[in-house]
Amino acid sequence: IDDFPVKNEPVYSYLPGSKEREAITAALKRVGSTVEEVPILIGTKEYKTEHVQYQPMPHNHKKKIAKFYYATPELVQKAIAVSTEAQLKWDKVPLAERLAIWEKAAVLMAGKYRQDLNATTMLGQSKTIIQAEIDSAAELIDFIRLNAFFAKELTKYQPISEEPKSTLNSMRYRGLDGFVAAVSPFNFTAIGGNLAYTPALMGSSVLWKPSDTALLSNYTIYKIMIEAGVPPGVVNFIPADGPVFGDNITASPYLAGINFTGSVPTFNRLWLQVGKNINVYKNFPRLIGECGGKNFHFVHPSANVESVVNGTIRSSFEYCGQKCSACSRMYLPASLWPKIKEGLLATRDKLKIGDVENVDSFAGAVIDKKAFDRITGYIKHAKESPNLEIVGGGQYDESCGYFIQPTIVVSKDPKDKIMTEEIFGPVLSIYVYQDKDLDQALKLVTDTTPYALTGAVFAEDEAFQKRCLDDLKYSAGNYYINDKSTGSVVGQQPFGGGRMSGTNDKAGGPHYVLRWATPQSIKETF
Ligand code: ALA
Repeated sequence: IDDFPVKNEPVYSYLPGSKEREAITAALKRVGSTVEEVPILIGTKEYKTEHVQYQPMPHNHKKKIAKFYYATPELVQKAIAVSTEAQLKWDKVPLAERLAIWEKAAVLMAGKYRQDLNATTMLGQSKTIIQAEIDSAAELIDFIRLNAFFAKELTKYQPISEEPKSTLNSMRYRGLDGFVAAVSPFNFTAIGGNLAYTPALMGSSVLWKPSDTALLSNYTIYKIMIEAGVPPGVVNFIPADGPVFGDNITASPYLAGINFTGSVPTFNRLWLQVGKNINVYKNFPRLIGECGGKNFHFVHPSANVESVVNGTIRSSFEYCGQKCSACSRMYLPASLWPKIKEGLLATRDKLKIGDVENVDSFAGAVIDKKAFDRITGYIKHAKESPNLEIVGGGQYDESCGYFIQPTIVVSKDPKDKIMTEEIFGPVLSIYVYQDKDLDQALKLVTDTTPYALTGAVFAEDEAFQKRCLDDLKYSAGNYYINDKSTGSVVGQQPFGGGRMSGTNDKAGGPHYVLRWATPQSIKETF
């Protein structure tokens, strides 16, 4: 364990003819040709209820890849009882043994099950192979491996004991006294793995409510972790209706924490319920949330046009703009607008949107009907509003899959809702400012949205870069200079934002593990 590897997992390229391409093709065939039945998993038992659900492929929505069941309130209660009991035993397992299980899981994910994770992510969440590979392979493996490394580093710390030694001070890192509810999103398979298994790593027990639209990939993670040696009952897999799950976990005295990634309204609701029930708990529950964003690219007149164009196309349109970090609003100086416009449109025109199994698709479909309606609602608004002009894209079609073309909108009004509200889809909104109005334009970044997740400043002018570090200090938890706002890597750019974007606990960083342990200081006197 002392030479625990701390390198990031390599990302394969899947070129046609490569052995990785062959392996993913076989896995896609396997996953795409069955409807896998996924039970609710509590301790060692499997449950099915009459609340049957299906997971379709977003890019081919008549085709289903999984059948699953919503847990009843009684099953959520049972899972709470099973997990709190399992926690007492699990927390006694020495950290070195837990780390060995995590390393075994990382090896299984990197080898034997890599293409199962990728194929279930591609077909269930409509990701291309490259988008799946950076998520359900590389990022997931990095979370598993590097959190184990961070856990080991954290627990190395021991407090000062004064000389001459008549006392010995020490600290131990106990799992949370109760259970953690992990509520994970569809857009990154890796986030599900992190939300559920980091608390478990630290000795806590978990009720994991996966997203309905990421069900099969998340179930694949669950099975791998069991195979690696996580005892059943430590993490319980509980697909459920959101409010049923939320009402039951927040009413339990044993709720020790919520590890959440999703929308602001859902996190608000959970927080309010915790507040309402505050007198029932044994401990103050820890609330950790990563919520919405309205991420920005701000372009200075000194910026390199090519890097603005490439970075913005990738940030706004990879995975249909459904990364929480995706650029959704851009501020551009009039002096650069003609060149940047030309570059954006020429690149946008070449993007192929379609079946994710197709090697030349740049992106697939948006996740479901609800997302399709929300995003196309903004496109309709752009078509109707006199302040807005669609300069590229604007087409959509849901007959086979939920397809929306990458869309670029220019807004005369920097406060139009298209510039300020979270869309979570392939819509980039641009405000062109006059070069002389740079100061006012910069203020728009922080003054027009309640979010602060990711953001990027493109400028060659170093004095301006420095100034932005001050002026945009609270504009983003993940801030980039001359690079796109997406693509944070575990261990390299710990992830999370402030304001309404979340509690900024920095997933993929060294401090995150401490949120899931409750330390004890021990003073021993001889
Ligand atoms: N880690 C993801 C990104 O930064 C969310 O794009």
